[in-house]
Amino acid sequence: MCGIIGITSNKPVTSAIINSLRKLEYRGYDSAGVATLSNGFINEIKSEGRVDNLEKNLLNKKIEGTIGIGHVRWATHGIPNTVNAHPHSSETVSVVHNGIIENSTTLKKYLIKKGHKFKSQTDTEVIVHLITELLKENDLKNSILKMLKQLHGSFALGIIFKDQPDLIVGARRGSPLAVGYGPNENYLGSDSYALKSMTNKISYLNDGEFCIVKKNEVNFFDETGNKINKKVLELSSNEQDYEKGDFKHFMAKEIEEQPITLKNCIKEYIDSINNEISIHNFPWKNKEISSVVLIGCGTAYHSCMMAKYWFEELTTLDVSIDIASEFRYRNNRFKKDSLYIFVSQSGETADTYAALDLCNKNNMKTASIVNVIESSIARDSNFVLPIHCGPEIGVASTKAFLGQMLVLYLLILKLGIIRGDLKKVNYVEKIKDLKKLPKFVEDTLLTENKIQSVSSTFIKAKGSMFLGRGFSYPIALEGALKLKELLYVHAEGYPAGEMKHGPLALIEDGMPVVVLAPRDNYYKKTISNMQEVIARGAKVLLITNKSNDDVVSENIWQKIEVENTNEDLLPFLLTVPLQKLAYYSALKKGYDIDKPRNLAKSVTVE
Ligand code: M6R
Repeated sequence: MCGIIGITSNKPVTSAIINSLRKLEYRGYDSAGVATLSNGFINEIKSEGRVDNLEKNLLNKKIEGTIGIGHVRWATHGIPNTVNAHPHSSETVSVVHNGIIENSTTLKKYLIKKGHKFKSQTDTEVIVHLITELLKENDLKNSILKMLKQLHGSFALGIIFKDQPDLIVGARRGSPLAVGYGPNENYLGSDSYALKSMTNKISYLNDGEFCIVKKNEVNFFDETGNKINKKVLELSSNEQDYEKGDFKHFMAKEIEEQPITLKNCIKEYIDSINNEISIHNFPWKNKEISSVVLIGCGTAYHSCMMAKYWFEELTTLDVSIDIASEFRYRNNRFKKDSLYIFVSQSGETADTYAALDLCNKNNMKTASIVNVIESSIARDSNFVLPIHCGPEIGVASTKAFLGQMLVLYLLILKLGIIRGDLKKVNYVEKIKDLKKLPKFVEDTLLTENKIQSVSSTFIKAKGSMFLGRGFSYPIALEGALKLKELLYVHAEGYPAGEMKHGPLALIEDGMPVVVLAPRDNYYKKTISNMQEVIARGAKVLLITNKSNDDVVSENIWQKIEVENTNEDLLPFLLTVPLQKLAYYSALKKGYDIDKPRNLAKSVTVE
């Protein structure tokens, strides 16, 4: 959430900053800005809305310099307008900030008393005046140390100074920050994605650390100001993964990529010759774990919920799930024999990270399932299981959801066999089925035309419901989340059996309702619930799997049949039409699919 870039070089930096801001736009797109130093002055230019607007403004008012910082914003304090856009500057310093300063009101009062004048409604401006004030009586390093002590909350900062023509300060508490190394220039960025077009040599700051970046030298410090050494990581990346190619949107590309990403992930974890799941270096013995707690947010939480059903079906482990923002503040009973699993695409979600941190501080066993392996959550977990999906750029999570479910399922099968909960013959059978999953997903992607036509009804409706039972319930929640996120219309996921306890009152003539009823143990029950909503006027889109038996129900508005495979794997297939439904609905409305309103990809504030 919010993106930071800083460059110090021996050549002009403005256009490189703008290029990086375009890459960072997925983190926030309310406003954008850049500040550079030239001839001992700070020049800043900012615009409401997208980086395109900033670039247009730069045509009228050129600002140059060999050092600069830039920012894309996702508003927390203050409406998204030009005044509140970052950077925020005094005559002495210019600051870009991700995160929230929790004691900004107190600090602001103190600084106003000292004579500082505030222009914006942001918490960030407090940092500008605080450091300006501290620099009156302290050298740069001590000013930074004193400032960091006084700031409460979570943040990543980039600061340039009028009197320092080759120096950017970066600081991290809670929000991610990386340093990149280039030839005669160095960089600061809120993630490696922003830096990848310039360098693949990167170091990450840990919580509490700060750095001083010069064009030929970078120094890192801990929170007491002691110099520390950092590993330089070499990132390998395929540039094509970061491009849309022939697709109109990243989301379309990411949906279509799913057969390949699943195949890649299966290759990483399954020894195909022996039909064996390989999870190397799992740090705990069988008897050390008797329960599992799964934690995530949004779509990642839905994959945790899916895993709960599989855990209960395939192992004897006790399992519970939690939304990270709830878990982190509850009075949890930490148990030594529990394994805490954190699921996150970005690996930077603030609430999920805080929940992990809490578990680490209580000496719990922690594992993470992430897409970005260099992320904070991956680095700070005892054990990491990557989902091998490649970068997911669209704000709506799609391929990462299938990847998370896949890795969770693999882990569950592995624990099931190790613990003796699963019979070898069943285990091998399930692995064989898994190997066929990418092909089934590929075939399910062909339900395209039907989805395109039903989406016309969803875009006209006041709202919709998504119903499922058992394995299909988490998928109903995920389908509803996707539609809300992209179509900006209320959509509710519900356990089909709960409808008569209240939500049935919402059903009115013509309301579109998606019913997920694959031929599993719950099938007959779900079909009964479907009839109850049809009887009350709902237009039902039934999503089931192919079968020789016809569905016994009248007045179904539309039916989509996904491929037939073992019950465990049907949730993967049911997800695909729901992703497409959200995509085509938003496309018909002309909405910004990859950057839905009010949202951002990596939620690094709580
Ligand atoms: O990066 P994470 O997986 O931790 O993100 C969690 C949620 O913010 C994310 O899944 C969000 O719900 C998606 N935008 C949903 O499509």
